[in-house]
Amino acid sequence: MTAGIILAAGRGERMGAGTEKAFLELDGLPLFAYSIKAFDACEAVNRIVLVAPAARMAEAESICASICAAKPIEIAPGGSSRQQSVMAGLAALDPETRIVAIHDAARALVTPELIAATVASAIEHGSGVAAGKVVDTLKVADGDMRAISTVDRSRLWAVATPQTFRADLIRHAYETAAAKGLDVTDDAGAVEATGETAHLVEWRGPNFKITFPEDLERAALVLRSRKWK
Ligand code: CTP
Ligand code: MG
Repeated sequence: MTAGIILAAGRGERMGAGTEKAFLELDGLPLFAYSIKAFDACEAVNRIVLVAPAARMAEAESICASICAAKPIEIAPGGSSRQQSVMAGLAALDPETRIVAIHDAARALVTPELIAATVASAIEHGSGVAAGKVVDTLKVADGDMRAISTVDRSRLWAVATPQTFRADLIRHAYETAAAKGLDVTDDAGAVEATGETAHLVEWRGPNFKITFPEDLERAALVLRSRKWK
C-alpha cells in the first residue's frame, strides 16, 4: 500500500498573511486542496494523510469532505517544525503502508505524473526525491554584496517534494534524526543522517514552493493553463 503525507501545518511566516499558508485561497480553493486532488488523481497512491495545524483540524476535515476525494483521507495534527509534522504523519499511517510519499502542501503545482514517478523510483531504488538541476550560475558573496567566487554547479540539484520512500527506511531515518537531535529540513536529509543516500528523480515541470505573496499569482497562472485542475 502506498500513502501520501501532505504537510499543511506550517505557519507561513514568510508569506506574512497572518494566517496559515496552506489555508490561503488560490483560485477559489485552499492551497492544500491542490495537493490532495493531485494525490487523489494519482493511481500509484492508495491513501492520504493530511497533516494540519492542531487548531484547524475541524476546518481541514470539512474542506477535505467538500473535495469529495475517492481515496481515504486521515487528518493528523502537526507539530512545531516540519520534522515534527512529518513524524506526526508517519505515526498516522496505516500499518500496511509500504511506500510513503511526503509532500509540502506549499507545492500546490504537483502533478499525478510527478507523484507516480517518485513512487516508481521508491519501488525500484527505495527512494525517489523530486529534483531539478541547478541552471543558474552560483556566486559566493560577502556581506557587502560583492561576488567573491563562482560555485561549480555541475553536481548541484535543487530538491523539492514529493520525497518518496520505502516506509521502513523513512521511519528509521526520522527515528535516527530525532535520536541524534537533528532538525532536518527535508526527508532526504533524514535519510542522510543514517549514512544512506536518497535517489533523485529529475522533474522539469513547474513545482516551485509557494513562499512569498508573489508566488501565489505565479501559481494561479500555471493552474489556469492546466486542464486537469
Ligand atoms: N510544515 C508543516 N509543519 C510545520 C512547518 C511546515 O506541516 N511545523 C509544512 C508547511 O505547511 C509547508 C511545508 O511544510 O507545506 C514546507 O514548509 P514551508 O514552505 O517552510 O512553510 P511554512 O513553514 O508554513 O512557511 P514559513 O517557513 O515561511 O513560516
Ligand atoms: Mg517553514
